[in-house]
Amino acid sequence: MAQQKPTGHEKIETNNFLMIVLILLVLLVGGLVEIVPLFFQKSTTQPLEGVKPYTALQLAGRDVYIREGCYNCHSQMIRPFRAETLRYGHYSVAGESVYDHPFQWGSKRTGPDLARVGGRYSDEWHRIHLNNPRDMVPESNMPAYPWLGKNLVDAESLPTHMKALRVVGVPYTDEQIAQAPADVKGKTELDALIAFLQVLGTALK
Ligand code: HEC
Repeated sequence: MAQQKPTGHEKIETNNFLMIVLILLVLLVGGLVEIVPLFFQKSTTQPLEGVKPYTALQLAGRDVYIREGCYNCHSQMIRPFRAETLRYGHYSVAGESVYDHPFQWGSKRTGPDLARVGGRYSDEWHRIHLNNPRDMVPESNMPAYPWLGKNLVDAESLPTHMKALRVVGVPYTDEQIAQAPADVKGKTELDALIAFLQVLGTALK
C-alpha cells in the first residue's frame, strides 16, 4: 500500500509544532474576548457609589494586612451563592475593589471571608482578637499578632505609596498625600489594621 501524503486537517493533526501554535492562537483569541471588555465596562472600572479611596491610616493597615499574610487564610470575596450570602452578606461586586491595588479577593479560607467584616465587631473586639485570638474565640487556630500594638505605623513611606497608587488611578489629592504622615502620627500598626478591617465592605448598602 503506497503511503499517501497528508492533506487538509490531517496535516495539522500530524504536525506537533503547527498544532501547538494553533492551540495557542485559539486560547489567545478566547482569552482576549473574555478579558478585554472588562477594562471598558462601567461595572468593573467605576467605583461603586460610596466607595472612597482608603484613608492614610486604612492604607497603612492594608499594608500590615499584606505584610502579615492575612490573605493566606482569609479571602475578601463573597461569591453569589445562598450559603455565602446568608453567612457573609451581599455578594461582592467589582465596583467595590476598584481602589484595591493589588486586590485581596483570594479563595483560601482557613478563616472566614473578611469582605464585609467592617462594623461587625467593635474596635476593642479586634484589639483583643488580634493580640490573641484565643481570648475571643477559644477554639481559634489563628496566629496571635502581639507586636502590632507595639509598632508605630511607618508614616514616612506613606506619601510615596499614595503617589504610586495615584498613578494607577486612585484619586488622592496633593493635600491628602502631604497630610498623610500627620494623619497617622502616633498610631500603632494595630490601630491601622483595625481601621482597615472596619471599612471593609461598608460602602454597599
Ligand atoms: C493560619 C490562618 C490565619 C491567619 C494567618 C489569619 N487568620 Fe484570621 N482567622 C483565622 C480563623 C481560623 C478564624 C476563625 C476563628 C477566630 O475568629 O479566631 C479567623 C478569624 C478572623 C477574624 C474574625 C472574622 C469573623 O467574621 O468572625 C478576623 C477579623 C481576622 N481573622 C483577621 C485576621 C487578620 C487581620 C490577620 C492577619 C494579621 C489574620 N486574621 C490572619 C485564621 C487565620
